[in-house]
Amino acid sequence: MSLKVIPFYHDASNTLSYILFCEHTKEAAIIDSVADYDALSAAVTYSSANILLAYIEKHQLNLRWLIETHVHADHLSACSYLRSKTNAKSVVSEHIVEVQTTLKPMYGLDLATDGSQFDVHVKDGEYLPLGEYQIKVIATPGHTPDGISLYCEGNVFIGDTLFMPDSGSARCDFPNGSAQQLYDSITRLLALPEQTKVWVCHDYQPNGRALDFHSTIAEQKEANVHLQQTPSGFVEQRLQRDAMLSKPRLMDVAVPFNLQGALVI
Ligand SMILES: [Fe+2]
Repeated sequence: MSLKVIPFYHDASNTLSYILFCEHTKEAAIIDSVADYDALSAAVTYSSANILLAYIEKHQLNLRWLIETHVHADHLSACSYLRSKTNAKSVVSEHIVEVQTTLKPMYGLDLATDGSQFDVHVKDGEYLPLGEYQIKVIATPGHTPDGISLYCEGNVFIGDTLFMPDSGSARCDFPNGSAQQLYDSITRLLALPEQTKVWVCHDYQPNGRALDFHSTIAEQKEANVHLQQTPSGFVEQRLQRDAMLSKPRLMDVAVPFNLQGALVI
């Protein structure tokens, strides 16, 4: 009996969602679920989330947590949909409040900015029980102020901090993002034991390579293309790169949707 990690890939947004569960007690968590969105019809559907639900049902898991590593700008979350179909609680960083407060006026939203759309607000160092295990929350801001990573039994789910070693790190140009803060967050992750399995939130498969989504802390240290330099070099490179990036295609749909707790439409 052990902790199981099951990845699911959402091709349209290059996002990895994960189900993790305690084999003994069958308690499960989903990290970063994705809703399907058709830009032409503006329809939100949930066939990808239903694949997660089917896995939960097939393996008779007790879904306890729906964790968002941050407010995503590139895809719509299926968190509320899954919450409506199960007894699971939604979990976000305590810094959701800051993100909502900053973005509410930018998007002209009628939005409570107290994070009340989500069940549980977590802090750095807090634990979420999962059967015989504990999921430790590691605050990893930089990409967004509410970024969290989740450590459990030799696995770390790093949200948008690092990508696979050939793909570097996440952008820091969203409101209140910070390249220096991201560097500090990455430094915290790299202090985990070298053999820790690192699971990414996105994989864009550069240069036509096959999909890949896990590495180790040792591999990230040795080979991540954005880490082979000084801290100030990282920040400078990150700022230069961010200045050239275009806005995520679904940002203006995804951000308001996700800020409101991924409302079921
Ligand atoms: Fe992101």
